[in-house]
Amino acid sequence: MNIPERLLPAFRKYYGAGSDPALVIRAPGRVNLIGEHTDYNDGYVLPAAIDRAVYIAASRCVSPLASLTALDLGEGTSFRVTEVAKKVDAVGRPLKDWVRYPAGVAWALQERGLSVGGVDAVFSSTVPVGAGLSSSAAVEVAFAVLWRALGAWELDTMTLARTCQRAEVEYVGVNSGLMDQFASAHGRAGHALFFDCRTFEWQPVLLPPGVAIVVADTKVRRQLGRSKYNERVAECAESVRRLSEHLPGIRALRDVSSADFAKYARYLPDVVRRRAQHIVEECARVLKSVEWLRVGDTASFGAAMNDSHTSLRDLYEVSCPELNAMVEAAQSLDGCYGARLTGAGFGGCA
Ligand code: GLA
Repeated sequence: MNIPERLLPAFRKYYGAGSDPALVIRAPGRVNLIGEHTDYNDGYVLPAAIDRAVYIAASRCVSPLASLTALDLGEGTSFRVTEVAKKVDAVGRPLKDWVRYPAGVAWALQERGLSVGGVDAVFSSTVPVGAGLSSSAAVEVAFAVLWRALGAWELDTMTLARTCQRAEVEYVGVNSGLMDQFASAHGRAGHALFFDCRTFEWQPVLLPPGVAIVVADTKVRRQLGRSKYNERVAECAESVRRLSEHLPGIRALRDVSSADFAKYARYLPDVVRRRAQHIVEECARVLKSVEWLRVGDTASFGAAMNDSHTSLRDLYEVSCPELNAMVEAAQSLDGCYGARLTGAGFGGCA
């Protein structure tokens, strides 16, 4: 584990009275290779964990107090794990934004009936924040793994990921799907993860030998992204409502075949039709991509990545000029199989 240099000295200084932490936990960020905005449509995704991660050094504490130091921010806080539902710190002030992720995880674990104890913890992240590489999911998964390690209970990794997603949706208040927490919790070296967001079935898919994933950060950070994200979630829901008048069996866009979509798309208003078209085609692209990876057809996989970007740019409209420039620059390079924006879009990484 590439533990950030400052982590252990900081723990010893703040909490250890000179001694080492009982545990060091690591949870990675993720890059999504294909299957964008499909997770909240019950579809398929193909993310991979990356070599940037959140690291926590921690020990159990006897009082029910979580005392946390965020090294990268140079800030500390403490909150009572038994009173997280109130969203205030130990002296009654509203929790700061960064605290809501670990506190949300403590809340969601307790909602499952699992006991969460006090901890002294220092943490640091090498995942850039707001870059579309799931820095918040990595924080959530790291704290869930920490409390699982300290608790006298068991929790399988998929349920752990789902508990973190619940923290994000119900405690932090962001309507995200399960992809990010899933990928951080299940990442495997040298593999992408083929995940069915409805059934929760997943399989590691070996990445082709001699191929590298290059993550390029536009450094564009868009706060606006969140409201636009929720707008897309709503547009997808509307398309399902309208299409289900003609296709009564469907529950999500994942259930709409390309043939059915071609038949009924004319019943959708223009914008909603384009959003739905992206999702229907993107789900099909993921299934094909997995097949191509399995037979070693990297060229076809790369072409699907390019198509995915075009669709996210023109149909789903979640790209931005900087991402388009980055993707076009990558696509023009010798040796590049394919390039696309990754994550929610509106900025972040290609
Ligand atoms: C964000 C969300 C994910 C997923 C992607 C888009 O990363 O957190 O759940 O919807 O956007 O694919």
